[in-house]
Amino acid sequence: MKIGIACDHGGFELKKFLLEILSKNFEIKDFGAFDYNSKDDYPDFVFPLAKAISLKNIDRGIAVCGSGVGAAIAANKIPDVRAALITDHFSAHQGVEDDDLNVICLGGRVTGHYAALELVETFLNAKFSGADRHKRRLQKIKDEECEL
Ligand code: RB5
Repeated sequence: MKIGIACDHGGFELKKFLLEILSKNFEIKDFGAFDYNSKDDYPDFVFPLAKAISLKNIDRGIAVCGSGVGAAIAANKIPDVRAALITDHFSAHQGVEDDDLNVICLGGRVTGHYAALELVETFLNAKFSGADRHKRRLQKIKDEECEL
């Protein structure tokens, strides 16, 4: 599974922590930010990650900003990206199993580093159920989407 990770300044420390640990077990591409810059903007890092997912160059994404909210809003603009701010274990796996979540968004100023790691591991280990009712719902969302 190819994983991508991105952050702005609000998620910089959490991204660094996650990247260091996850890269021991996963192939993971870093979409930046590569240096801390308090003036950077999350769309500049989240869009390249989300586009890589849309183009199927990356399977799952991790997007970290201060709250996780901006990252989710930005990522969901890109076709075939299904992103959500995740703060609990249930949603971390159920979001994948039912909704085929492919980008987990986290708040670097909200969720502790080790709690975030557990959420990410849960997300990465979860699989879409493929159940007809979930496919039907996802198709209804896809039908409303604009092309890249
Ligand atoms: C940046 O200060 C902050 O607004 C951003 O990281 C994020 O929390 C947006 O949702």
